[in-house]
Amino acid sequence: MRFDVFTLFPEAFDWYLGQVHIRAAVDLGHEFVLTNYRDHTPLSHLQVDDAPFGGGAGMVLRIDVVCAALEAAFGVDAECVKDDRRVVELTPKGRQLDDELATELAGGDLVLLCGRYEGIDERVTHLVTDRVSIGPYVLSGGEIAAMATLDAVTRKLPGAISNPDSVVSESHAPELDGGAEYPHYTRPAEFRGWEVPEVLRSGHHAAIERWRAEQVRKR
Ligand code: ADE
Repeated sequence: MRFDVFTLFPEAFDWYLGQVHIRAAVDLGHEFVLTNYRDHTPLSHLQVDDAPFGGGAGMVLRIDVVCAALEAAFGVDAECVKDDRRVVELTPKGRQLDDELATELAGGDLVLLCGRYEGIDERVTHLVTDRVSIGPYVLSGGEIAAMATLDAVTRKLPGAISNPDSVVSESHAPELDGGAEYPHYTRPAEFRGWEVPEVLRSGHHAAIERWRAEQVRKR
């Protein structure tokens, strides 16, 4: 699978793309490509944004700049990029990211468009298949939202996580009826008088499974 991220701040992804599960995904043949809109702007002085028509605060990322960056990365008309992959604009106006959407987005190549300033010119709707929000709040740009999306999606790729069971039984997965995962404990078994439930130390696997299922139901 190929992930493309379009951003004005590719360096924001340096730490994230070095994480072990991303490197594991790369070792499996998945690709992560960062494109800086500014590297492909058709405008002089490396301009990428402009004042909003109708007035108002802030600057808007220009649609001609977004098109030029998509065309440079894919070598086809910007409107055709979405013909064979999901093209996602990260925006607080989008569909909220959840486990179901992450699973959907893991189904094929993915393009993530990060906005900055007041966002991307609304005509970006001609270029995208999806508009995705990571929550009902406004971030300063799409980069953190893109990393959250990449993270949720990458964890769905077969082989990217060393223990696949940890993905299947994760919080919000359909296997847990969309609910939260059971609680986890590790050593020490007792600390400051806070005890790990006895059943988890019993070695009785059926009882442990029952206890965990019960915790999921309670949550
Ligand atoms: N850009 C700014 N805020 C955002 C949000 N909540 N989700 C996705 N992209 C954003």
